[in-house]
Amino acid sequence: MEDNPYGELRFDGPCPPSIKSFDTTGVVISLGSFSKIFCPGMRVAWMIAAPEILSKFADMKQNDILCSSTLHQAQIVAYMEMFDLDLHVEKICQVYRKRLSVMMEAIGQFFPKGAVVNPPAGGLFAWVELPEGINARDVFKVAVEEHKVAFVPGGAFFAEPGHENYMRLNFSGVSEDRLKEGIRRLGQVLAQSL
Ligand SMILES: Cc1ncc(COP(=O)(O)O)c(C=O)c1O
Repeated sequence: MEDNPYGELRFDGPCPPSIKSFDTTGVVISLGSFSKIFCPGMRVAWMIAAPEILSKFADMKQNDILCSSTLHQAQIVAYMEMFDLDLHVEKICQVYRKRLSVMMEAIGQFFPKGAVVNPPAGGLFAWVELPEGINARDVFKVAVEEHKVAFVPGGAFFAEPGHENYMRLNFSGVSEDRLKEGIRRLGQVLAQSL
C-alpha cells in the first residue's frame, strides 16, 4: 500500500518515482488525495490498483459511506476542466517552499541547540528531534496551555511505543508572520524543557 498524499509537494528536486511504477504483477495499491494538492479539507482521494482489487474496495466503500461527497467530486472535475491543476500545484509549492524557509530560519533563531531539524524536501511538515528523555507530549501540554501554540507529538505516528522525543511541525497552514511567532513561542517552551 503506497499512501502518498504529499508526493507532489516538492521543494527540492523532482518527486521520486512512485512504488506503483515498479509494480509488474499488480500487487501495489497506490493512494493519493486532493486534500493536499487542491484544497485542504476537501477529502476526495483516489486509488490506483488492479481491477479485481478496485472492485473489492468499491464494495467496501459503498458499505461504509456509499461514496465521497458528490458535490466535492463535481467541484474538482469542474476545476480540472477549467484550470490547470499541475500549475496550481506548482503555485502552492512556491508558497509552501517560502513558508518552510521562514520556519527554518525562525527555528535557527529561536530553538535551543539540542532540537535538531532537517529541512524536508517536500510535504507539509518538519520533523524535530529533541534529546532522548524529553517527552514531546509534556512539551505539547505547556505549549498549548501556556503559549497557545500547537504541534503533533511524534509518538502519535508510531504503532509501537517510543519516539516520544519527536515533534511534527506544520508549515503550510498559517501565514509567514504567524509561523514565525509560533516558532518563537515554541522556542521559549523548549528553552525551559531542554
Ligand atoms: C499519510 C496520510 N495519508 C492519508 C491522509 C488522508 O488524506 P485525506 O485528506 O484524503 O483524508 C493523510 C492526511 O490527512 C496523511 O497524512
